[in-house]
Amino acid sequence: MVLRLEELSVDNLGDVLRLPPQAADDEPVAPTVWSVAEAYVHPTAWPRAVTDDGVVVGFVMANWSPEEPEPAFRAGIWRLNVATAARGRGVGRFAVEQVAAEARRRGVDRITVLWDATHARSPEQFYLRCGFRPTGELLGEVVGELDVRV
Ligand SMILES: CC(C)(COP(=O)(O)OP(=O)(O)OC[C@H]1O[C@@H](n2cnc3c(N)ncnc32)[C@H](O)[C@@H]1OP(=O)(O)O)[C@@H](O)C(=O)NCCC(=O)NCCS
Repeated sequence: MVLRLEELSVDNLGDVLRLPPQAADDEPVAPTVWSVAEAYVHPTAWPRAVTDDGVVVGFVMANWSPEEPEPAFRAGIWRLNVATAARGRGVGRFAVEQVAAEARRRGVDRITVLWDATHARSPEQFYLRCGFRPTGELLGEVVGELDVRV
């Protein structure tokens, strides 16, 4: 695998929008079409395609908003979607590591993520395996924190 993070472009947008979930699917994350639309109106959003040897296998959107009053929304992962066939091969972990690296470039010490612990397909175990530590609850979801200092 040759995993890379790429900015959204005319070349990869269609494949990003075809990632799961689609509108009728039951997964604990919004369809990428929502995320791309939100990125259009939120200048703090940081959407990226994850490619494997040039093929889109995932999408991650971080948010960098240091002035945000709610600490859980200042720096971290907003969305993460991995193609069904690419799951279980380290794509999600790579995306988390890339967001952590970007946080360090920005001088940020910790990143957060919110996950739905009650969903049948909750990503909780994934985030715990990636090192996130539950620190509380917000909007009915678990807040997880990851220290990204080296
Ligand atoms: C959750 C998701 C992002 C994980 O991506 P992935 O590429 O399959 O995860 P990885 O292969 O990088 O796994 C990293 C670690 O987490 C573990 N892991 C991943 N999914 C897991 C699960 N459902 N249950 C238990 N462990 C899990 C892996 O075993 C691996 O552990 P290890 O390397 O320490 O042995 C992916 O399944 C997905 O897109 N799910 C649907 C959308 C979603 O839930 N997004 C997150 C919402 S914020």
